[in-house]
Amino acid sequence: MGSALAQHLPLCFSQVSCYTKKELDICDPDLSRRVLEKDRPSHVINAAALCQMEVCEKEALRSYEVNAVAPGFWAEICAQRDISFVHLSTDYVFGGARTRPYSEEDAVEPLSVYAKDKRVGEERVLSFPQHLVLRLAWVYGWGGKTFMSRLPELLAKEQSLEVATGRRGSSLYAPHGAKVLAALIHRQASGLFHVVNRGEVDWIRFARECQRQMWEAGLSMNSCHLKEVPLGQFGSLQARRPDYSVLSTAKMEGLLNEEMPSWEEALSDYLKLWHSRCMEG
Ligand SMILES: NC(=O)c1ccc[n+]([C@@H]2O[C@H](COP(=O)([O-])OP(=O)(O)OC[C@H]3O[C@@H](n4cnc5c(N)ncnc54)[C@H](OP(=O)(O)O)[C@@H]3O)[C@@H](O)[C@H]2O)c1
Repeated sequence: MGSALAQHLPLCFSQVSCYTKKELDICDPDLSRRVLEKDRPSHVINAAALCQMEVCEKEALRSYEVNAVAPGFWAEICAQRDISFVHLSTDYVFGGARTRPYSEEDAVEPLSVYAKDKRVGEERVLSFPQHLVLRLAWVYGWGGKTFMSRLPELLAKEQSLEVATGRRGSSLYAPHGAKVLAALIHRQASGLFHVVNRGEVDWIRFARECQRQMWEAGLSMNSCHLKEVPLGQFGSLQARRPDYSVLSTAKMEGLLNEEMPSWEEALSDYLKLWHSRCMEG
């Protein structure tokens, strides 16, 4: 998400400074204050997080520091300087015992260390009324580490892929998220918003559609076999995930008066970029 923001935001704002983890550890209070004093921004966007859920289960203290404490600290030092803080959160704050999309008003029930810490982070940020929290889901894009980000390459190279089933959710192509984030800042929005592409998706449906679009566009003729495996059979996964976490984007679309692209359109946009980046070598 950070890469997509770094690409898109300079098109919308006159001055944008981006920091990698090496340059700015968000858990370092002195450095964080120094960077704010140097840059004196009107807005700060936090795309940093510890997202690997299995690592969060094993390193609970680190997860708490990065996903809960640091966003709260940043929200506070930004509020003291009249800076708007924009924080990113997750659909995994929900418990999954539902069959219709979750709205921003719905009760949360985080099931994993990652989700619990992200929930604490969003609560702390939202305790300052001028700040903004966007809940995202299954984020993918060029350079990403997630299964969805790597899928075109995997489908082009592998003979067979095991794809988890049994979970339904929303997905977000990172550049579409960056565009909405910039639009919400321009509208001086604050509070909590869901930001995902339209439509409900699961990993196997996403993988099949990706393969179909790649064949149709002639991006790959490889006929990788997609094997459905229930999520519970991936023995290495300890962190509990909600079975259902589709997000409603009605609040955000109502404010911006614009519909999000569907997940199929988003995938098509990604494949065009993926192809052009592959051509560049
Ligand atoms: N990925 C998803 O599917 C998904 C779904 C829902 C919500 N989200 C939310 O979206 C946001 C962005 O996620 P993403 O997918 O872009 O994750 P990502 O690719 O893992 O990026 C997170 C970045 O934060 C960095 N980071 C970790 N600890 C840090 C620290 N103490 N100081 C500074 N940087 C630090 C990481 O560096 P290292 O990798 O070197 O540790 C990584 O570059 C997160 O808030 C996440 O919770 C993501």
